[in-house]
Amino acid sequence: IDLTPFNTLALPGKAARYQRITDPGQLAAVAPGERRFVLGCGSNLVLTGDFDGLLLHMAIAGKRVLREDDEAVYIEAGAGENWHEFVQWTLAQGCPGLENLSLIPGTVGAAPVQNIGAYGLEVGERLHSVTAWDFARQTLFTLDRAACRFAYRDSLFKQEGWHLDGRVAIVSVVFRLPRNYRPNIGYADLRQELAERGIAEPGARDVADAVIAVRQRKLPDPAVTPNAGSFFHNPVVERTQADALLAAYPKLPHYPQADGRVKLAAGWLIEQAGWKGKDLGPVGMYEKQALVLVNRGGASGADVRNTMAAVQAAVREKFAVDLSPEPVFL
Ligand code: EPU
Repeated sequence: IDLTPFNTLALPGKAARYQRITDPGQLAAVAPGERRFVLGCGSNLVLTGDFDGLLLHMAIAGKRVLREDDEAVYIEAGAGENWHEFVQWTLAQGCPGLENLSLIPGTVGAAPVQNIGAYGLEVGERLHSVTAWDFARQTLFTLDRAACRFAYRDSLFKQEGWHLDGRVAIVSVVFRLPRNYRPNIGYADLRQELAERGIAEPGARDVADAVIAVRQRKLPDPAVTPNAGSFFHNPVVERTQADALLAAYPKLPHYPQADGRVKLAAGWLIEQAGWKGKDLGPVGMYEKQALVLVNRGGASGADVRNTMAAVQAAVREKFAVDLSPEPVFL
């Protein structure tokens, strides 16, 4: 099967075998020893060639309010639900809490894997539990939030022997949306957008609309310009290195972390290294947000690797900072 429609970077490649999973029960029929890859909608994927295995396309649907108590509403959704549509549905149900994560491409089942985050919120903060299929043990199991070990763009599922190795497949997620709603509008871009709209006391719908507007302005639509969102993690460096960089570049955006280290804005580093809007062959860095790598048309996985390496080298040379890619390579 041709995988070009299954990755938002629109890279070419084939999978030897393909199965669309619409019910967790189908997973029991997958031979435990078979090489496999679990796919949502390929919005965080770099396809480097053909895949000689079984591609499991997770399309399990369903969303419902599971239960409510005085403090929170618990909502369950199938792994194959489109993330943005799910978030808009929770808002329509009168359940705020996920609005900052509006318009992120991808599926519900993929959201916990890299702990998607934007505009001051990470999904791990609103997640209650994850249910997944264990291919070796042939059973479903559930992990609570603490067991998922969420960190910046990271979780247990990215570790060896978990989701990314095809050992488990997330089938559903339960979210916990607190009742005491307070809009999360600390992120500068978001505050500014709400101010420009003249909204002083935003509700969840206002926040969602503002996030959608900011994203549409800065980020390319994968349907028009193939991309996989941010292509690098924002690097976290030691305080001493951050201080040295700030002495030389006082405008460098930086965010102190709880552990004393400092997160830097990779997009700023890439722009200053001369790569904003610059191409190498058919792959470049987006002109409105330098952290987003784009396929200008007809690119292969090798073209992506070339541009990635050139950007990493430029940032290393100018700032002595290493950038690590954010998407999964297959
Ligand atoms: N910046 C530049 N030039 C650029 C891009 C950014 O100078 O070309 C500066 C901005 O001016 C700002 C800072 O860098 O001062 C941060 O930029 P921005 O707010 O656009 O966010 P980001 O750090 O580049 C992260 C996430 C995004 C998320 C936004 C908003 C990562 C790897 N990326 O980007 O997530 O939408 O914050 O919260 O953490 C994604 O993961 O695919 C993604 C889009």
